[in-house]
Amino acid sequence: MIPRVLVFAGSVRTGALSGRTADAAVRELALQGVDVTRISLADYPLPLLNQDLEREKGVPENGVKLARMIAAHDGLLIATPEYNASLPPLLKNTIDWVSRVKADAHGRPMRAFRSKPIALCSSSDGGYAGVRAINHLRAVLVHCQAEVITPQCSVPRAQEAFDESGEFVDGRLRKAMSEVCRVLIERTRLLSVRLER
Ligand SMILES: Cc1cc2nc3c(=O)[nH]c(=O)nc-3n(C[C@H](O)[C@H](O)[C@H](O)COP(=O)(O)O)c2cc1C
Repeated sequence: MIPRVLVFAGSVRTGALSGRTADAAVRELALQGVDVTRISLADYPLPLLNQDLEREKGVPENGVKLARMIAAHDGLLIATPEYNASLPPLLKNTIDWVSRVKADAHGRPMRAFRSKPIALCSSSDGGYAGVRAINHLRAVLVHCQAEVITPQCSVPRAQEAFDESGEFVDGRLRKAMSEVCRVLIERTRLLSVRLER
């Protein structure tokens, strides 16, 4: 089985460091034989979640699309920036909307994050590398019943971390990303065996 993995960053900023980290993950996943889908959340704009809005209009189409796309992949990798020692509002709002989608296109019960193997990366222009954002993001996704893997790749001073081809300059980061991708793939395979039983 060739696992299908969805990848996105928690920033839509031009030249986003988390976007470059997501691109490094895409390259490594492809190298390890995965069928990768890279999306930008800029293509799935969502209003700020407000339960009045949800009650009146339901989950916006982009929220439904994202939820079904996540469900259709064997794994997910998110590269997050860090805002005030936590995950950015774009990412939290996206996860909140996706968590409100409860059915697939045929009306069958579906929870996008339930049992979904998820890998987390972070980056920052500072020395903390966004590890505090990852800790919060991990807690949110575990609450949504995702299977967040333990290895993570956090990129400090990310504005200096990549060479012209987008590879990590530091061999330790290359190794960390390789391990993140290896374990994510292993987890998607384990899960598909469990589901086949
Ligand atoms: C509101 C705000 C809060 C921030 N807080 C942190 C922080 O707590 N830790 C950190 O390392 N960087 C922080 N930063 C800097 C971001 O990590 C930096 O701008 C980064 O490049 C943003 O991610 P992106 O390049 O993927 O868009 C903050 C930036 C903003 C806009």
